[in-house]
Amino acid sequence: MTRPKEAIKSTVSATSTSEQVHIVVLAAGKGTRMRSALPKVLHPAGGIPLVDHVLRAASRVSPSTVIVVIGHEADKLRAYLGHNPETIAVVQEPQLGTGHALLQAEAALVGKSGTVVLLSGDVPFLSGATLGSLLDTHRAAKAAATVVTATVDRPYGYGRIVRTGGEVARIVEERDASPAERKIKEINSGIYAFDLDGLFDSLRSIGAENAQGEYYLPDLVAIYRRQRRPVATWTVANASEIRGINSRSELAEVSRMVRQQKNEELMAAGVTLVDPATTYVDVDVEVGQDTVLHPGVRLEGSTKVGAACEVHSGVRLVNATVGDRVTILDHCLIVDSSIGAGCHVGPFAHLRPDSVLGEGCKVGNFVELKKTTMGAGAKANHLSYLGDATIGEGANIGAGAITCNYDGTRKHQTTIGKGAFVGSDSTLVAPVTIGDHAYVAAGSAITADVPAGALGVARARQENKEGWVAKRKAAEPPRTK
Ligand code: UD1
Ligand code: MG
Repeated sequence: MTRPKEAIKSTVSATSTSEQVHIVVLAAGKGTRMRSALPKVLHPAGGIPLVDHVLRAASRVSPSTVIVVIGHEADKLRAYLGHNPETIAVVQEPQLGTGHALLQAEAALVGKSGTVVLLSGDVPFLSGATLGSLLDTHRAAKAAATVVTATVDRPYGYGRIVRTGGEVARIVEERDASPAERKIKEINSGIYAFDLDGLFDSLRSIGAENAQGEYYLPDLVAIYRRQRRPVATWTVANASEIRGINSRSELAEVSRMVRQQKNEELMAAGVTLVDPATTYVDVDVEVGQDTVLHPGVRLEGSTKVGAACEVHSGVRLVNATVGDRVTILDHCLIVDSSIGAGCHVGPFAHLRPDSVLGEGCKVGNFVELKKTTMGAGAKANHLSYLGDATIGEGANIGAGAITCNYDGTRKHQTTIGKGAFVGSDSTLVAPVTIGDHAYVAAGSAITADVPAGALGVARARQENKEGWVAKRKAAEPPRTK
């Protein structure tokens, strides 16, 4: 299932009214069922943490305030949220339930008016469009609270929506529900809009007389109904949008949905995925038209792949930038590096961080680059290690050539000039410079600079001993049996 496709930057209709929207994301819970040292909402789906998915959906309704309630492993979450200065982190300690969690946002909302939209940090597949519809419904109904609901075949574990005369009367948690109530298939998504006016006073009247001894936010519904304040509901068409993640198994399932959606977007934009089920593309990755991604490709982080490229099986690109018309053959790992248009890379090439290939370069089988720049048209086709090196345009690095960049303590630079030819199995002991158009003889151990246009030879001269084999045989004592 996919959620409705959304334009990345546009905002949804509800934001056209001038009333302020304040987002509160609940993320203080322990996430016990994840069995993890990492807070649940920092686990990634599609390459970004769950809480990031939620914050991105929230940004689509142009909120004036974004508050995240943190508690369990608060430091890790605070450090992560620190990347986004517009987010206010408030601490809930101890964690006494979702009603108590929302109460912690009160101080950050003093003197404000408008609508509070309450989201769960563990519900990552929610779309901005759904939030827009929630706000539209809430405003049209002039409701004090609007609950996002869904009708599902297996409501197990969720709070159930109990209706009387068609109107929502209250929400009952699974553990507190009667057998009849457990049969109700309309569930609480844990996502709500609240009129800020009177919200916190009502929250304070929530009790904790329930199976978990917690202050349940959904109890606010019954409280509002008693106060004769209007409560509305908005039912999502696609129930998978409001799936909460409570376990690793649910994380895997929602990750698959996120991936599937990304793959659909890519295909709609003109990218061929030979087997979408085995193609893993993180949410922020960009891929150009007519590029072909073969089975088992992973594109991660901020990777950008140009148009008309072919990326073969087993390739993993992490924060890589790839120009147009590039072929990457099977089983390459390319990290924090950039590849110019028309390059040919792999199979089995490893580009470590800060490697840059100019246009039309060739990097072949079992070649490893690290902090190395290759000028346009340069080639290293077989079995090389090129680290801390600058290689000029059109240079040719022979099979097995190696830059010895590390002396055991420090790293040193190798510079290879334009059009230079480094013979097979050479070792270039850095720091060293090979001049433009210079040659290095195969098998050399180069420890001094080779001037432009020169041939550097650094190996023992070959000597052939004529008739040596026969002489050896003659000198051998007879074999013993
Ligand atoms: C909650 C709802 C349930 C709904 C379901 C939807 C309550 C009591 N129940 O149940 O009706 O069907 O979500 O997914 O609200 N949290 C805090 N502080 C706390 C407790 C929880 O911040 O003290 C946060 C959690 O980190 C999580 C969210 O609130 O992000 C929901 O809590 P969780 O324990 O997952 O509630 P559910 O049992 O799923
Ligand atoms: Mg939950």
